[in-house]
Amino acid sequence: MSEPLNILFIGDIVGLNGLAMVTKFLKSLIEKHDAEAVIVNGENIYDGKALTKKHAEELFAAGAHIITTGNHVWERWETRPLLREERRILRPLNYPRENGGSGYAIFKTAKGTKVGVLNVQGRVFLPPIDDPFKSADWAVGNMLEETPNIIVDMHAEATAEKQAMGFFLDGRVSAVLGTHTHVPTADERILPHGTAYISDVGMSGPYDSCVGLRTDIAIKRFMLGTPHKYETATGDVKIAGVILQVDRETGHALSIERIIFPEFEKTAVVVKEEVQAEVTLIEG
Ligand SMILES: [Fe+2]
Ligand SMILES: [Fe+2]
Repeated sequence: MSEPLNILFIGDIVGLNGLAMVTKFLKSLIEKHDAEAVIVNGENIYDGKALTKKHAEELFAAGAHIITTGNHVWERWETRPLLREERRILRPLNYPRENGGSGYAIFKTAKGTKVGVLNVQGRVFLPPIDDPFKSADWAVGNMLEETPNIIVDMHAEATAEKQAMGFFLDGRVSAVLGTHTHVPTADERILPHGTAYISDVGMSGPYDSCVGLRTDIAIKRFMLGTPHKYETATGDVKIAGVILQVDRETGHALSIERIIFPEFEKTAVVVKEEVQAEVTLIEG
């Protein structure tokens, strides 16, 4: 068997702090994991909405080959011409084609291996766009004529819909990777016919937040039941991703490993005063 193809996939970059973190550490992550192909989801870079040409250029300069997106990519007018001009930036394929942009692309790595990337979006709790399954079936069929190494960014809210896509494409693509919900899930695995799967890669952005939004605003939204202006949080910025090893001859995944950098704190480092007071009260 020839040398495995290592692919690094980075989950939704949220805010300019998320972008700064990714551009700062992407090269070292690429080196550490010997990644030959690098895919990043960039749907939430600019105040949580889409990205500009400058942001895309920074990511390409840092080592990204393809930028995938999702529902938020349409929320900034300046991104639309970018989607039409730049074939390395994808938007979910199953939005009507009149919106412009591409939903899949094939690129060649430095070692000459072709890698296909497909971006599709689920329809549960999201706009009722075209069928992601039929769209994926068509695009994967096209890409398989050129390469067995195919990565699918399944941008969706519902876990079951993402799992259904995983099993639908099992054996035909190298990986189905969930994005959009911004919280990494612990179900990374290889499906029975050789496709790597995870329900959500997690976001690359501020974890001192509610899926990227400032916690005080999120609490207000839920408690008051009314809209409140979106402001990206800034604290505890992390990079979330997965590293895949793929058999480049068959396209089947050999392994999938979750990356969260820096790691989550699992024990209390500093006990805040108010928490301490509460604990004392309970004990007393
Ligand atoms: Fe997102
Ligand atoms: Fe999204």
